[in-house]
Amino acid sequence: MTSRWMTMALAGLIAGPALAQQAADAVTTEGTASGVIEGLSAEAQQAVEAKLAGEPVTAQDWMVAAANPLAVEAGAEVLRAGGTAADAMVAVQTVLGLVEPQSSGLGGGAFLVWYDAESGEVTTLDGRETAPMEATPTYFQDENGEPLSFWDAVVGGRSVGTPGTPALLEEAHARWGNQEWAGLFDRAIALAEDGFTVSPRLAGLVAEEPEDRLPRFDATAAYFYPGGEPIAEGDTLTNQAYADVLRAMAADGATAFYSGPVAQAIVDVVRLNGGLLSIEDFATYDVIQRNAVCVPYRDADVCGMGPPSSGALTVGQILGMLEEFDLAAMGTDSAEAWTLIGDASRLAFADRGRYMADSDFVPMPTKGLVAEDYLSMRAGMLDPSTALETVEPGEPAWDHAMLLGDDVSLELPSTSHISIVDGMGNALSMTTTIENGFGSRLFVQGFLLNNELTDFSFATHEDGRPIANRVEPGKRPRSSMAPTIVMRDGAPLLVIGSPGGSRIIGYVTQGIVNYLDWGMDPQQAAAAPHLVNRFGTFDIEQGTSAADLEGPLQEAGFETELRDLTSGLHIIALEDGQLVGGADPRREGIALGE
Ligand code: GLY
Repeated sequence: MTSRWMTMALAGLIAGPALAQQAADAVTTEGTASGVIEGLSAEAQQAVEAKLAGEPVTAQDWMVAAANPLAVEAGAEVLRAGGTAADAMVAVQTVLGLVEPQSSGLGGGAFLVWYDAESGEVTTLDGRETAPMEATPTYFQDENGEPLSFWDAVVGGRSVGTPGTPALLEEAHARWGNQEWAGLFDRAIALAEDGFTVSPRLAGLVAEEPEDRLPRFDATAAYFYPGGEPIAEGDTLTNQAYADVLRAMAADGATAFYSGPVAQAIVDVVRLNGGLLSIEDFATYDVIQRNAVCVPYRDADVCGMGPPSSGALTVGQILGMLEEFDLAAMGTDSAEAWTLIGDASRLAFADRGRYMADSDFVPMPTKGLVAEDYLSMRAGMLDPSTALETVEPGEPAWDHAMLLGDDVSLELPSTSHISIVDGMGNALSMTTTIENGFGSRLFVQGFLLNNELTDFSFATHEDGRPIANRVEPGKRPRSSMAPTIVMRDGAPLLVIGSPGGSRIIGYVTQGIVNYLDWGMDPQQAAAAPHLVNRFGTFDIEQGTSAADLEGPLQEAGFETELRDLTSGLHIIALEDGQLVGGADPRREGIALGE
């Protein structure tokens, strides 16, 4: 990350009431002066400056928040023309796939939560990548049955699942779009052909890649290291191959991706590099509509994506336990509040590791995991003054008596989140990914292929018991993505989500607590320093006021680690007929509305 964005990232962190003004001042003096991004509209530039100043963006009719201003502008153009949130999402995603290719794109998958203003219903669409039909449970093991090393599994064809994002774009547009499909690709095609400016974050991440990852494959190296040098901040980059695929999809829909030369090119590259995807996997790919998982919290319902994501269930479990405690009275800087949040999270992650996976393949106690009496019983274990000594999965109500092992699969931070509210009052929350930053590192037809299959457990059993998230043919790997719409009185209140691997769950939970319990506006809620506990160690965001909690949390019995916690929260609140948006200062995105 270069100094300008580092300045934004650090100076934008709201550090609790005492330090909030200092942080805002630092951003105003350093950030605004250097925050000009060439080629942006005046409105988008204002949105950048609002973020740098720690101010939320407000609007009356529509709003879009995403990880790159060029992508946000593409969505804004569609919304301004009267398009729906689903239309705008297609424009945003196709531009993100170009300007933020390391995080999401045609080669990946996504989950989408939709609030429909006409019916008042919340629906979810599962566009998750799937395992090849040729894959077996020992897919990520060597000839001795030992799990492959993580990076050996990630880099190359083995980790690539059948992409879901192209089908998801088409499905969302078919259900909820009102604009002509082909026109939604115009902005991305123009940027791909005329060139776009390489952002500091993209350039920084390319520069950090080790020799044996991104530069390893010829096609990938040719794009990201033209002439042998990494692309640099401010370079103009074109991508004709990507424009060609978008044109084909604009003309023929997602079928141009799932059959013919595009699908064949992906299959060839994946198989050449150790993977098992086939044309049949592409031909049989389907987006799946699933029931939203909704959990009551305070005076609202927190609705999100159920299995194969663990997102809504784990966020819901944490909030369901915290429901029993008065976090508002404790305050943001209270070690007691964070002890409760940390241990509620550990209890939820214990259940996640044992029970959560693709419920089309393994039976799951989906309702039992978020049942009020179960969460109340789990909350009874929490003590605001002392960390739990041991944390075990619970026994939620379930109509199966299945003995399962615990999964410890690794998920590294990447991914991107899009939040949109349109002029008709529809709301869309979509988290979209190619898994790890730069995915499998395989680059085909102008986009990167995912490494989503490494979200499966590499082991099949633990102590003789099967692991729910083991690899199976056609199965979707468990995700942590938590695109969320918080509902109050039957209407959306908050549209929220973040990248961040399995820390997504902590970021989204904290964003909701920041807003509902601690009264932060969306920009403050996105910027507040993070403390995340998944498996025992309390990760505390270094360089922020959260570090002051390290001592008290250690005294309470936690192991702690100071580190970067690079969330990418995009939040839109619907308050009294007004839209209020915030974008995470740790990344390059903005919220924009009218
Ligand atoms: N690969 C990130 C996630 O699905 O959670």
